[in-house]
Amino acid sequence: MAPVALALILGWCLVAASRAQHLSRPSLSLHPSQGVSLGDSVTLRCHLPLPAARVCVYQHKYLRFLKNMHKEEDTAEFSLVEVRQEDAMKYQCQYRVLALPGTLEKSDPVELVVTDSSYSPPGISLSPEEHVEMGTNVTIQCWNQGLHGTIFLHKDGHSAPIQHQDHSAGSTATFTLFRVTPADSGTYRCSYRFGGSYFLSSPLADNVRLEVAPPGAERMPCGNLVVAVVRGCAAALVFGLGLYFILDASSFWIRRDESPAGEGA
Ligand SMILES: *[C@@H]1O[C@H](CO)[C@@H](O)[C@H](O)[C@H]1NC(C)=O
Repeated sequence: MAPVALALILGWCLVAASRAQHLSRPSLSLHPSQGVSLGDSVTLRCHLPLPAARVCVYQHKYLRFLKNMHKEEDTAEFSLVEVRQEDAMKYQCQYRVLALPGTLEKSDPVELVVTDSSYSPPGISLSPEEHVEMGTNVTIQCWNQGLHGTIFLHKDGHSAPIQHQDHSAGSTATFTLFRVTPADSGTYRCSYRFGGSYFLSSPLADNVRLEVAPPGAERMPCGNLVVAVVRGCAAALVFGLGLYFILDASSFWIRRDESPAGEGA
């Protein structure tokens, strides 16, 4: 009996410990989180699960900011003013609580991707065409001036790039959207980053738009038109016939009314 009870207690402790560890991680967010250019300002916000005594922010592996907390705040804010190339990095935050000595876990890393407008935006093209039927394979090609690095495909409304390709050889990346569905409709753009400075990005290319018609939709406008024309014709026919009978009947009654009057005169 004793071993079973011990195992149960140990199991409960492990679960509680893993839960506590999971709960105690801070999280870091960037504001704005994308579209940051060199010279812009960015706010880093560390969200704390517990009131902390001290909060640190690491840039890559090195301590960048440190703040002693005085109040029971659940967020610590840090500012990067006039972002430079060397600020384009991964960031993590960490906090300490006086009552709990030891190091608590760091937040998940967040990437500060900075746009350098001195890079020329890549070119972009879409084939076969902007309006396609469902099930078509669509390719989007992006190219830069033969520079090595990684080309990213972005879709408006998505915070992260949806695909990327390393291109050490050649200067064109080909992204294929297999068997597209209406959910693939949208606006696409490309950017590239060089190998050496991974978080420095080119500006986004001009956009291409893709519209995927739902199945059978391409015949709808004609179908609607035919139905409308047939309905219109039928209505005109009914109206015409009705008018004909009314006129015919009224002229009959007029003639009938006039005849006795003529006879009476
Ligand atoms: C789309 O690509 C897939 C995978 O390469 C291929 O099997 C399929 O036949 C292609 N469909 C069309 C319509 O080209």
